[in-house]
Amino acid sequence: MKRTGEQFRTIWQHPENPAIVQIIDQRKLPHEYVTTDLVTWQDGATAIQEMLVRGAPLIGATAAWSLYLAAIDAAGNDDNKATVLTAADALEATRPTAINLRWALDRMRKVIEASTPDKLAETLAAESRDICDEDVEISRGIGQHGLTLIEEIAARKKGEPVNVLTHCNAGSLATINYGTATAPVYFAMARGIDVHVWVDETRPRNQGSQLTAWELAENDVPHTLIVDNAGGHLMQHGQVDICLTGTDRTTRNGDVANKIGTYLKALAARDNGIPFYVALPSTTIDWTITDGLKNIPIEERDPNEVSHICGRAGDQLCTVDTVASKTRISNYAFDVTPARLITGLITECGVCDASEDGLAGLFPELARKTG
Ligand code: MRU
Repeated sequence: MKRTGEQFRTIWQHPENPAIVQIIDQRKLPHEYVTTDLVTWQDGATAIQEMLVRGAPLIGATAAWSLYLAAIDAAGNDDNKATVLTAADALEATRPTAINLRWALDRMRKVIEASTPDKLAETLAAESRDICDEDVEISRGIGQHGLTLIEEIAARKKGEPVNVLTHCNAGSLATINYGTATAPVYFAMARGIDVHVWVDETRPRNQGSQLTAWELAENDVPHTLIVDNAGGHLMQHGQVDICLTGTDRTTRNGDVANKIGTYLKALAARDNGIPFYVALPSTTIDWTITDGLKNIPIEERDPNEVSHICGRAGDQLCTVDTVASKTRISNYAFDVTPARLITGLITECGVCDASEDGLAGLFPELARKTG
C-alpha cells in the first residue's frame, strides 16, 4: 500500500526501539494519519477492541505482537510463559467474529510452549514477524488469482472499465499489505487494466468511506463512494461487473461471515446475475464448523456506533449524535452469507467453489488436520 507515494505496512516494530510496536490509528483516517505506539500487551488489546486496528488479518497480527510485548514485560519472571499465556486468553476475548485472532494466538501458544523462558521475547518477535511476512505473501497470492477474474471481464468488455463493488474495508488497512478483496484490484491496475471500484460506505463505522476510499485514492485507483443501499440499483442498471468482498470467518463448507450488509449485496448480485466473489486468506477458514448461521458468533457492538457519526468540522475532528435519546438501537457488526450465494472463493492457492470440496481441494492438509 502506498501513502503519499511511499510503500508501507500496517504494523511494524519501532525502528529505534524494538520494544515498541507501531500501528496506524485507523479511527482517525481519512482526515488524519496518526501512528500509535503499543508498549504493553494491554495497549494491543485496547487497539483491537476499540478498532484502532481492525480487519481479520491485522487483528491476528496485532494479537501476535501483543504477546511479544507481554513477554518483554514478564522477562526475568520465573512464570513468564504462564503470564504470556494469560495475556493470550485475554486477547482472544477482544473481538469474537474474526477467526484470525484465534488462529494467530493458537500459533503463538505453540511457540510459547516450545520456547525456553529466557528466549521467549525474541522467539515471539520472530513469530510475529513471520505472521506478517506470510500475510503479505498470502495477499499477493490472492491478488494474482483474483486478477485472472478481472482480466476475463476486461477482455469481454473490450477495454471498457471493469466495475467492481466492494463492502467494508478488506484492503491493505485490514491486512499487512495489499488487502484481500482489494489485492486483485491493485494487481489489475498494475497490469494496466481499466478498473473502477464502487465503494460501499459501510455503516455504522464507515470503513468504506473512511478507509477503503482513502487507500484507493492513495493508490490512484478510480473509485466512487456510494451509500450502502445503492448497490442493488447499480446492479440493476448494469453498472457492476463483479462484487469482491473480504471475510472474517469462513466455514469449511464456504459460508462467509463479513461486515454487516454483505449478505444483502450477495442477494442483489444473485438476482441480477452478477458474480459475487469472496477473497480470503486460508487463515480465515474455520475448519471446525460447517454452518455459518448457527456456529459463527456475531459481534454486537456499542449502540453509539449507530447513533454517533465522527467527521471533520473545519480542521477539528468531532463526533455528533444523530438519534433521539429514547430510541433503542442494536448494532450487529457482521452477517453470514451462505455458500449458495457465493460464486467463488479467491484464496492464495487459487479460486474455488464455495464448498467443502472446493476448499479441501485447495487446502487438503488443513482440511484433513481438522476434519
Ligand atoms: O469490524 P471490522 O472493520 O474489523 O470488519 C472488517 C471486515 O469485515 C473485513 O471485510 C474483513 O475483516 C475482511 S478483511 C481482509
